[in-house]
Formats: sequence, C-alpha cells, structure tokens
Amino acid sequence: MIKIGIVGTGGIADWHVTEFQKNKNSTVVAACDISSDRLNAFCDNFNIKERYNSVEELLDKADIDAVTNTTPDSFHKDISIQVINKNKHIFCEKPLAENYQDAKEMCDALKNKNLVNMVNFSYRNSSGYQELVKTVQSGKIGNIIHMDANYYQSWLSSKYWGDWKTQDKWLWRLSTNHGSMGTLGDIGVHIFDFASFPIGPINKLNARLKTFQSKGEKIKDYILDANDTFISMIEFENGALGTITSTRFATGYSNRLELRIFGDKGAVKIEFDDPLTEGNQFMFTDDINREFTSRKDKLKWEIIETKPIMNNFEKFIDSILNGKNHQPNFIRGAEIQKILDKCSESSLSNSWVDI
Ligand SMILES: NC(=O)c1ccc[n+]([C@@H]2O[C@H](COP(=O)([O-])OP(=O)(O)OC[C@H]3O[C@@H](n4cnc5c(N)ncnc54)[C@H](O)[C@@H]3O)[C@@H](O)[C@H]2O)c1
Repeated sequence: MIKIGIVGTGGIADWHVTEFQKNKNSTVVAACDISSDRLNAFCDNFNIKERYNSVEELLDKADIDAVTNTTPDSFHKDISIQVINKNKHIFCEKPLAENYQDAKEMCDALKNKNLVNMVNFSYRNSSGYQELVKTVQSGKIGNIIHMDANYYQSWLSSKYWGDWKTQDKWLWRLSTNHGSMGTLGDIGVHIFDFASFPIGPINKLNARLKTFQSKGEKIKDYILDANDTFISMIEFENGALGTITSTRFATGYSNRLELRIFGDKGAVKIEFDDPLTEGNQFMFTDDINREFTSRKDKLKWEIIETKPIMNNFEKFIDSILNGKNHQPNFIRGAEIQKILDKCSESSLSNSWVDI
C-alpha cells in the first residue's frame, strides 16, 4: 500500500485525495496546509488523522512514500524539491513551476534518484485523446500540415465557477505577485501539452498576451496584472503550422478544449469540457479519394469510441509499484514551461522566437 501525504488542501486537493483513496494500492495518511481552518475541514471531510502546518513537519514526522503537491504555482518548486531531497516520490500539479529555470532545477534534483515524478496534465486522462495521439503518430493522417487548439474558460465573464472578485482561489490566478502566469500558466500549460504531444516539438512561435484592465487594477492585495487572454502562432520541427489560443472571457464555455490536426492523408479532431465523461471518443476522417456527384454530399467524419484508460493518479501509483515512470513526467513539465517562457518573451519583443 503506497502511503501519500498531500500538501495544499484547497480546491483541487479534493480530486487528488478522492482518487488516491479510491485506488486499492494507495491511501492518503497525512495532509498539510498553512491554513489550519482549511486543513481541518479537509481532513475531517476525508477522514485524515495526521495534520501539519508546514511541509517540513510533514516530511519529518509522517510515515509516507509519496507526496502530492496541490499548492498554488509559486510553491511547486520549493515544496517538490524538499520532497525529492527526502527521497519521496512526487506528483505535482501544473504548471510544474513559475518558469523554465525553476522547472529545470526540479528535474536536476531528481538526477541519480530513483523517484517517480509526474505532473498533472489532466487532459491526458481522455482516452479519446490518447487514441488520437496514436493515430497521428502512426502516420495514418499522413504528414501534418496544420493544427489549431483552443482552451476556453469564462470565469471572468460568467458566474459559473463562482465570483472571482471575492474568492482568493481566483484572485491569486490574476496576480503575478502571487506567482500566477495568468491564463498562459494556468490553462495555456494544458493546451500546449495537449496540442504538441501528438505532433512533436515546437520549433518557433509568435505569441501575444493581453491583460484586460477593464476588470480593474487591484482587489485587496491582489494586483490584477496577469494575462487573461493569449493567442499564438506555432511552427513545429516537422514543418507543420498552427495556432494555439486561450481566454478566460469565453462567454458560453465553462471549460472547453478543442484540437484539430490536418495531415495530407486525413484529419483528427476532439472537443470536450470534461475529459472523463466526454473524452472517450475522437473524430477521424480520411475522406480524400471519394468522387462527389453533388455538393449536398457532405465530407465524412467517423466517431471513434474509446475505452477509459488509467488516469494520471492511477499511473502515478502504477509507476511506483512497477518501477516504470509513466508520462507526463517532470521533464515534459519543464519542456512545456520553456514554451510558456518563450510565449512571454515573444509577446514582450513582439517577434517570432526560437524554442
Ligand atoms: N490539473 C488541473 O486540471 C488543475 C485544476 C485546478 C488547479 N490546478 C492546480 O492546482 C494548484 C492548486 O490550485 P487550487 O485551485 O487547489 O488552489 P487553492 O488556492 O484552492 O488551494 C491551494 C491551497 O494550498 C495552500 N497553501 C499555499 N501555500 C502553501 C504552503 N506553502 N504549504 C502548504 N499549503 C499551502 C493554501 O492555503 C490553499 O489551501 C495550482 O497549481 C493549480 O494550477 C490544476
């Protein structure tokens, strides 16, 4: 039985503890948060006995094999490195760090240690997506020519996720002082992984980040300066071109991911809000040789149904038990972090940048 300690008992922690407690090979034995109120409410809810207010105390006193790091972005690096230095396996929330240099230090800390490390790019949990990746990588749609990917949220323009003006869990996401890279770091990190994993490395990009000050300048001590929208043009190492975009003002969409990839022999696409309930399928077409007698005939897309796969939490436990580190690992987290840094650089310099 793998014994897990959880650091950060906020919003996303519920999902982590639920998954690790559901797994017959793991259990959550200890939790840690700097807020005692949050810690106690969380531990009471999930029946966790050992409670700590600092990660140092958790690592010194708790009998654990692994840590799941569910703190805000700015704490990912220091907490994860402390965990690694104590020889515990580490599962970390995305983005891996605040910048590539920090992400690289996290990877360096793992060198010569036989520790399982994963980053929670949660949209990889979609089985339809994983099959789409295999389809693209098998060459079935031919050479990749073009792609587009979008991640749409609307928590700045609707009340679907609550009121961002009053809740700290949204306010830190709007403030660079609080360690946020805005929508680029929050959901751009997902969509860059999602879009590039099937196709391969990105060679160069040109991005534009924007912070809409119409929402105000400051609330409490949160300066609202982190970007809320970005667009980017991408060129892949294999020559394919594409666009990747994201916004928190996508009215009408709560949490939408879309990806289309066009090759010279076919195409694939996938769209969902929830990767678990809607992500067990993708669409495929190779309708390129048919003769058409009428414009009323439509180009055909096939729905490919897929069976649920191991999610990231299950993969983490499986990695510890079987000694084979599943993806996405810290190195992949750092690769994506580099792309995010390059987007910021490109936006500031108003130019194409090489990766
Ligand atoms: N994979 C996903 O799809 C997904 C979804 C949502 C959030 N996240 C990520 O999860 C992380 C947490 O997000 P959230 O929405 O749960 O935030 P949150 O603000 O709701 O919770 C964070 C918790 O960490 C605690 N904390 C802060 N500093 C700490 C420290 N030094 N030691 C211990 N506890 C500390 C806070 O008190 C708070 O309870 C973020 O990095 C976010 O990007 C990932």
